Amino acid sequence: MINFHKVSCTFGSPDAGVKNISLNIGDDDFLFLVGPNGSGKSTLLRLIYMDCFPDSGIVKIKNFRSNKIRQKDIPKLRRNIGMIFQDFRLLPDRDVYQNVAISLYISHYKAGQIKKAVHEKINQLNLGHRVHYKPEQLSGGEKQMVAIARALIKDPIVILADEPTGDLDPRSSIEIIDELYKINQNNRAVIVATHDYDLVKRVPDAQIVSLKDGEITSII
Ligand SMILES: Nc1ncnc2c1ncn2[C@@H]1O[C@H](COP(=O)(O)OP(=O)(O)OP(=O)(O)O)[C@@H](O)[C@H]1O
Ligand SMILES: [Mg+2]
Repeated sequence: MINFHKVSCTFGSPDAGVKNISLNIGDDDFLFLVGPNGSGKSTLLRLIYMDCFPDSGIVKIKNFRSNKIRQKDIPKLRRNIGMIFQDFRLLPDRDVYQNVAISLYISHYKAGQIKKAVHEKINQLNLGHRVHYKPEQLSGGEKQMVAIARALIKDPIVILADEPTGDLDPRSSIEIIDELYKINQNNRAVIVATHDYDLVKRVPDAQIVSLKDGEITSII
């Protein structure tokens, strides 16, 4: 479903970004991107989200190709992708319900449809008792669960998570990774960039792509 063919993206500097990446990611894969700071994990996720583009090579996601896509089709691509960030990126002045619903409001879904979908996701992620809390009233783990609910609300085919447990304690980190694993068991591809090898060990059968200096050093 996602295919990197000899992709380099170096931001104009030979020691930045990623180099010569070839990688196939299937519909129901769980894939970890691991490697030290600056090894290219976030760049790979940004290439999938088409937030940056290769200098050479092609990234393909379903029928979207990095060398052919038009600016106006990028939102269509992104509808297929749920993105989760380390720093959550929730709207501070909105409650949990509104944060999860936001993309449905923007796409003009009907009020009844929004209510049903949002409550379903909020309950699925055990946030029912927090529905009218603002982000500042939530713990880090709860904020990340809200970010996951928001990423899932449009039923994307792939979830990208960039260090989703970076600032969380071990127990919350395990809850987050277990939640991502459940999503994967529901036939969604999940790609997680992380430093944390304990988390990697928690997911049976995950593929582990190791990066160093922008290049893949191993795939296991
Ligand atoms: N927009 C940019 N312009 C120039 N260099 C960049 C840009 N984005 C990333 N880089 C460089 O590319 C390299 C890879 O960065 P990237 O953010 O992908 O690493 P990472 O593995 O996600 O690191 P971290 O673990 O710190 O998040 C780094 O050396 C970084 O400085
Ligand atoms: Mg990063």
